[in-house]
Amino acid sequence: MTEIADRPVDRIAPRTVPHLVTEIPGPKAREHIAFDQAWTSPSLPRAYGLVPVRGDGVAVEDIDGNLFLDFTAGIAVSSTGYNHPRVSAAVHHQVDQLLHFSASDFYLPIYAQTAAELGRIAPIQGRTRTYLGNSGAEVVEAAMKLARHTTGRQYIVAFLGAFHGRTYGAVSLTASKSRYHEGFGPLLPGVHHVPFGSAGLDELEDRLFKRLVPPSEVAAIFVEPIQGEGGYVVPDSAFLPRLREICDRHGILLVADEIQSGAGRTGRMWAIEHWGVEPDILLAAKGIASGMPLGAMVTREELMTWKIGHHGSTFGGNPVSCAAALATIQLLQEGLIDNAQARGEQAFEGLRPLIRRHESLVRDVRGKGLMIGVRFDSGETAEAVQDAAFQRGLLVLEAGEDVVRMSPPLTVSAAEMSIGIRLFSEAVADVASNRAQVLRHAARTGALNEVQASG
Ligand SMILES: Cc1ncc(COP(=O)(O)O)c(C=O)c1O
Repeated sequence: MTEIADRPVDRIAPRTVPHLVTEIPGPKAREHIAFDQAWTSPSLPRAYGLVPVRGDGVAVEDIDGNLFLDFTAGIAVSSTGYNHPRVSAAVHHQVDQLLHFSASDFYLPIYAQTAAELGRIAPIQGRTRTYLGNSGAEVVEAAMKLARHTTGRQYIVAFLGAFHGRTYGAVSLTASKSRYHEGFGPLLPGVHHVPFGSAGLDELEDRLFKRLVPPSEVAAIFVEPIQGEGGYVVPDSAFLPRLREICDRHGILLVADEIQSGAGRTGRMWAIEHWGVEPDILLAAKGIASGMPLGAMVTREELMTWKIGHHGSTFGGNPVSCAAALATIQLLQEGLIDNAQARGEQAFEGLRPLIRRHESLVRDVRGKGLMIGVRFDSGETAEAVQDAAFQRGLLVLEAGEDVVRMSPPLTVSAAEMSIGIRLFSEAVADVASNRAQVLRHAARTGALNEVQASG
């Protein structure tokens, strides 16, 4: 038997992407899906029948040898693409050096280096402190605990359409689909929601603060500067500055959940920078370590009033994840953020004509940088387009009620973006001309689940 260390890593053979060699999903994929369905939690909201085994750059190969152009990046996670040589080298080096040590209990050097680096790039002036966890939801939980602890207040406000995760505190803030709450009540008490956007702030001030919850008892308001799972919703320009002003007026902490919108994806390091607004607490995860599990809560220094033992984690800030994050941040600053901006402009220019071309189906093309959402006339159309794209070798993901989102790696080239735009446009044209048949196919291949690809 081959020792694991001697096993060669199979690389993707150089081919143009996409390159499909079987029907989609192929025979091995269908067989694997049956195996998976026998053993794994049925709660996992699989979007469609992709069975990935290898990745390289923006390309993903499935178990049947089909090569896909990945415009999902594992839901905005693989920010530097698959197998980026600098990230791989940093991870390999750290694996050989020190794979794990609990940074909650000892002074792991790379943990503090990562905290300092995140403090340097955070959109927060002055000194910061950082807590590292393993995932997005974990740092949302940390921020809820810290906000209550440091303000001595109990209420928390979030926005309808928000997605903040699936653990108890985080899911209590999540308000994108009622399925996330079904059968789990009662959720965390003291959480209130208002609509996303300036109209929601009228409701916050005129209804919530006046009739239900005194603002002096609100610890924090959690906001995604651009909503992710809710459908890549960019708020009106007055929203975030006014939210900051409301928080300042009442001593409420503003928590920017940049778990999906951060790490350079929108053409700035943090999406909130598009509005010149500073949060009190910044949350990052997903793309910040290129796919290694890491969550970060960065706060103004004076907010970390909690004491020894109030919070921690065995694995949080694992050294390998920290090594990946440090390499990722360097790459973002060396050009990937600029590329996200340029490729985003290319995408919007290429996709906006779809609104005129298919006016009965395509309602909007929106987003910033490489957070690209196309809204359709219905959820069924969005899912049919997602499936038609998959059939052509392009991976995209449904979001919100009727949106298809694209969040390619920030390494995507101009040529790859052109291919993605062409394949997506063909998928929309296919659905437009062949609606009944395409909807039937999507239903047959399982694309029409009620909740898909959450995150
Ligand atoms: C904005 C936002 N916040 C929080 C989360 C939760 O992150 P995780 O799935 O790592 O717990 C997500 C995940 O999709 C997200 O998009």
